[in-house]
Amino acid sequence: MKDLESKVAVITGGAAGIGREIALRFGQEGMKLVLADVEATVLEATVKELNERSIDAIGVVTDVAKLESVEALRDATLDAYGAVHVVCNNAGVGGGGGGHAWEHEMNDWRWAFDVNVLGVVHGINAFVPVLVAQDVEAHVINTSSHNGGFFPLPSTAIYAATKASVVTITEVLWAQLREIDSKVGASVLFPSGRSPGILNTGIWNSGRNRPAEYAQQNPREEPAGSALEKYKKAMEAAGRPVVFADLSEIADQVVEGIRADQFWIHPPSDLHDASILERAESMVARGTPDYMLARLDPPRTPKQ
Ligand SMILES: NC(=O)c1ccc[n+]([C@@H]2O[C@H](COP(=O)([O-])OP(=O)(O)OC[C@H]3O[C@@H](n4cnc5c(N)ncnc54)[C@H](O)[C@@H]3O)[C@@H](O)[C@H]2O)c1
Repeated sequence: MKDLESKVAVITGGAAGIGREIALRFGQEGMKLVLADVEATVLEATVKELNERSIDAIGVVTDVAKLESVEALRDATLDAYGAVHVVCNNAGVGGGGGGHAWEHEMNDWRWAFDVNVLGVVHGINAFVPVLVAQDVEAHVINTSSHNGGFFPLPSTAIYAATKASVVTITEVLWAQLREIDSKVGASVLFPSGRSPGILNTGIWNSGRNRPAEYAQQNPREEPAGSALEKYKKAMEAAGRPVVFADLSEIADQVVEGIRADQFWIHPPSDLHDASILERAESMVARGTPDYMLARLDPPRTPKQ
C-alpha cells in the first residue's frame, strides 16, 4: 500500500505511547484517523491535540477485550469516514504480576490474554471482512514484542505468551489473505527504536487499566509508576544508565513497513538476530532451550 493520503486508519491503544506516535505519523501522511482507547480522558486530549495540528481524527472509547466494543468501533469508523484501510491492533497491557509461571493467578492470564491476544483477534474479526470486501489496498498491523515474539524472557511468562500468539495469528492471517488473493496486507510489529534505548510508555504502569473483573485475589502489582523507576535504579546501580529511544522511530518503521509490504517490522539489530537464530538452532538441534539460562536472575550456565 503505497499511497496513504486520505486513507482511513484505526489505531487501538491510540491515545498514548506507541499508538499515539503512530497516529501523529499517519497524520503527517494526511490520513484520517480513528483512535480507539479504553482511557476516555487521555483519548479526548490526544484527539484534541491531533485536531489542533489540522489532523482529521476522531476518538472512540473502546475496550478491545470485548468483541462488541470493537464491532462498535468498526461501525463508528464506517459512519464517520465510509471506509477503512489500515488497522493497527496495538492496544496492550504488561499483564500479570511477578513470580513463577505456576504462581500467576488465573485472572492475570485472563486479563493479558483478553487484551493482548483476543484484542487482536477482535480487531481481525471485526475489520478484516470489511477490508477484504472493499477490494482495495489495505493493511493490518498487529503489535507483538521482542519478548515472546522473538524469544521469551523467563520472568514474564504471561506477557511473552501473549506476544508469541500475536506472531502466530498474524502469520496465519497473512497466509490466508494470500490464499484468497486479497489486496489486504498484514504485518507484525516488534516495537523498537533504531537508536538504542528502552521505550518510555505507559506499559510500565499497565495496572491503571486493569478492570475489576480481572482483580487479583492476592495483589502483587507494583504501585503506579514504580516499575520503571525500579528498573532505572537497578540499571544505574549496575553501571548501565537507562536511555530512552525516540518513539517516532517506531512510527516511521510502521509507515515504511506498510509501503514496502514488509511482514516483520523491526529495525536492524545484530543482537536480536543472534537471539532469534539461537532459539531456532536449539529447536533444530532437538536439545534444551539453554538460551533461557542467560536470562535468569542471576544468569545460569548450561550443564556440560
Ligand atoms: N513499551 C514497550 O517497551 C513495548 C515493547 C514491545 C511491545 N510493546 C507493545 O506496544 C503496544 C503499545 O504499548 P505502549 O508501550 O505504547 O503502552 P501504553 O500503555 O503507553 O499504551 C497502550 C495503550 O493501550 C490502551 N489500552 C490498554 N488496555 C486497553 C483495552 N482493553 N482496550 C483499548 N485500549 C487499551 C492504554 O490505555 C494505552 O493508551 C502494546 O501492545 C505493547 O505490548 C510495547
